[in-house]
Amino acid sequence: MDFKSKIKTIEWQDTYSRMVDQTIVPYEYRYVNITSGDAMFDAIRNMIVRGAPAIGIAGAHGVILYAQELEKEKFTREEFVRKLIEKAEYIKTSRPTAVNLMWAVDKQIEVIKASDSDIEGIVEELKQKAIALENEDIEINKRIGDYGAEVVPEGATILTHCNAGALATVGYGTALGVVRSAYAKDNTIQVFADETRPRQQGARITTFELAMDGIPVTLITDGMCSYFMNKGMIDMVVVGADRIAANGDTANKIGTYTVAIAAKYHNIPFYVAAPLSTIDISIKSGKEIPIEERAHEEVTHINGKPICPLKGVNIINPGFDVTPHELITGIITEKGILKPDYKESILTALSK
Ligand code: MRU
Repeated sequence: MDFKSKIKTIEWQDTYSRMVDQTIVPYEYRYVNITSGDAMFDAIRNMIVRGAPAIGIAGAHGVILYAQELEKEKFTREEFVRKLIEKAEYIKTSRPTAVNLMWAVDKQIEVIKASDSDIEGIVEELKQKAIALENEDIEINKRIGDYGAEVVPEGATILTHCNAGALATVGYGTALGVVRSAYAKDNTIQVFADETRPRQQGARITTFELAMDGIPVTLITDGMCSYFMNKGMIDMVVVGADRIAANGDTANKIGTYTVAIAAKYHNIPFYVAAPLSTIDISIKSGKEIPIEERAHEEVTHINGKPICPLKGVNIINPGFDVTPHELITGIITEKGILKPDYKESILTALSK
C-alpha cells in the first residue's frame, strides 16, 4: 500500500536543515529552514521538531550547522575540532529525556574524532553521516512496522498515546509505523488516539497524519481510555518511547504509564515500538531516566488562553513518565519483538 502522506519530517538540504514546523500542525503544514546551530538548539527545545528519533536527526544537523559556522573562523584544525565537540555536547542539553538526541550527536562526534580530513572534509563527512542517519531511520521504522503488524489482530482497534508517527521520526513512524504496516495488510483496523495533554500531540499530530493517510482514527481525551477498554473496544496498545532502560522500563510521553496500568487491568496487550537507538544500556532501570520539566503555561493555557486561575494554583508539568517493564508485553524493534526477560532480550538484540 502506498501512503498518501509521504511525510519527510526533517531533511538536510546542502547547507541547512528543513523541517516541518510542528508547533502549528494541524492548523498549518509548513516547512521551516534552520540555518544556525543556536537556532537548531531552540528548535529542539521549543519543539518545532519533536519525537525522539526526529530530534536525534535534528541534533545531528545541529552539529553540521555549528561546523559550518566554525569553518568560517580562522581556527586551526585542532581548535576547530575542540570547539565543535563542545558545541555538539551543548546541543545534547536542548532536551533531556529522549536518548536518541544524545545517540545521534554521539554518532557525529565519532565522525569528527575518526576523521583524518581537513576542516572542509570534516564538514562534508558530517553531512554524509546525517543523510545516512535520515535514510536509516525510515528503513528501521518500516522494519519495526512490519514486525509489529504480525501481532496486530485482524480488525483490531489500536490505542496509541502522544505521537510516535511519521512526524516524530524522519518518516513512517514507530508506533504509527506498526499501524501503517498493519493497515496495508488489513484495512479493517482502526486507531483510537489519546489527546495527550498538555501539548495535545495525539489530537494535533496523530489524528492529522492518520487522517492524511486515510487510516480510520477516533480522538478520545486522556481520561477515556479505561472506559473504552472496559467496553471491550480496545484490542491492543502501541506507543513509542523516548528512552528504554536496560531492564525494559520505558519513558514515554506523560500519561503513557496510566494507559499501561489500565491495559494490564483489562488484559490488553501493551507494546512499545522503538528503534534500538532508544535503548540506553548505560542505565539499569527507569529510575535513572531524567524527566523533562516543562513550562507551566503548557498546563495553564490552551491556544494562548488560560484554563484555570493564574494565581493561587500550583502547577507541575513533567513531560514524560516511566512505564515499568512488567506492564510491557513486548518491545517492537527493527531486530524483532523483544520479550521479557528484557535484560536478556535487549542485550541479545543489541549484539546482533
Ligand atoms: O515531547 P515530545 O512530543 O517530543 O514527546 C514525544 C513522545 O513522547 C513520543 O511518543 C516518543 O518520542 C516516541 S516518537 C517515535
